[in-house]
Formats: sequence, C-alpha cells, structure tokens
Amino acid sequence: MIEWDDKYNINISLIDEEHKKLIGIINKAVIAKQHKSNQETILEILNEMMTFALKHFTTEESYMIQFNYPEYQYHKEEHMDFSMKTLSYQSKVLDGDPYVANEILECLKQWMIIHIQVTDRKYVDYFKKNGLK
Ligand SMILES: [Fe+2]
Repeated sequence: MIEWDDKYNINISLIDEEHKKLIGIINKAVIAKQHKSNQETILEILNEMMTFALKHFTTEESYMIQFNYPEYQYHKEEHMDFSMKTLSYQSKVLDGDPYVANEILECLKQWMIIHIQVTDRKYVDYFKKNGLK
C-alpha cells in the first residue's frame, strides 16, 4: 500500500486534491494484485482510472488552454497515453490475461513517478504566474 507523500505535492491545491484520489486507486490495484482479484474487480479499478483520467486531465488541460501553456501538446500526449493504456487493459482483462493486474499497478506507480513528479511539475511556475494557488 502507498500513502500520499509531500514529494507528490505540486502546491496547487485543486490539482493536489485530484492527485490524492489516485492513491486510493493505486491501493485498490495493490490489493487486486495481492488477492489475484477477479475480472469484475479489475474492471472496476479500470473504470475508476478512466473516470479519474477524464476529470483530472480536463482540469489540467483546461488551464493549459486558458493560459496558453507552451508545452500543452506534449503534456496532452502523456495524458492520452494513460487513457489509451487504461483502455488496452480493459481488453486484456476481457481476454483473460492473467498478468494484467501487475501491469495496471506498474503503470500507476510509473505515473506517480514520471508524470506527477516530473511532467506536472513543469507547469507549476507557469500556472502560478497566471494566478493559480
Ligand atoms: Fe498531467
């Protein structure tokens, strides 16, 4: 199980609140892997990932458009990649792939490291200059 850590904070409260929701999803994925959960449980986790992605990526991307963020295109591609992976895991589950829970968990952990701690950080100064807190 993982917990929210200060190293994940980007210090823009609305975005940190949304990122915190991802920890709950990751912990469900940890349990699903440990307990070798059934298809239905894994599909529920994937649904939560998709709902998270739709809402949260819209939050970030709307600010990027509003503030004319120069790295919008690149950032959006990483978001798209997350959504596409989530969709591909759905078909893997339905195909009976026994390793998909491991892949989902790995993907989520990588997201915390590579996206939240690196790519998201790049917009912080820019967003703050445009008045976000
Ligand atoms: Fe992002």
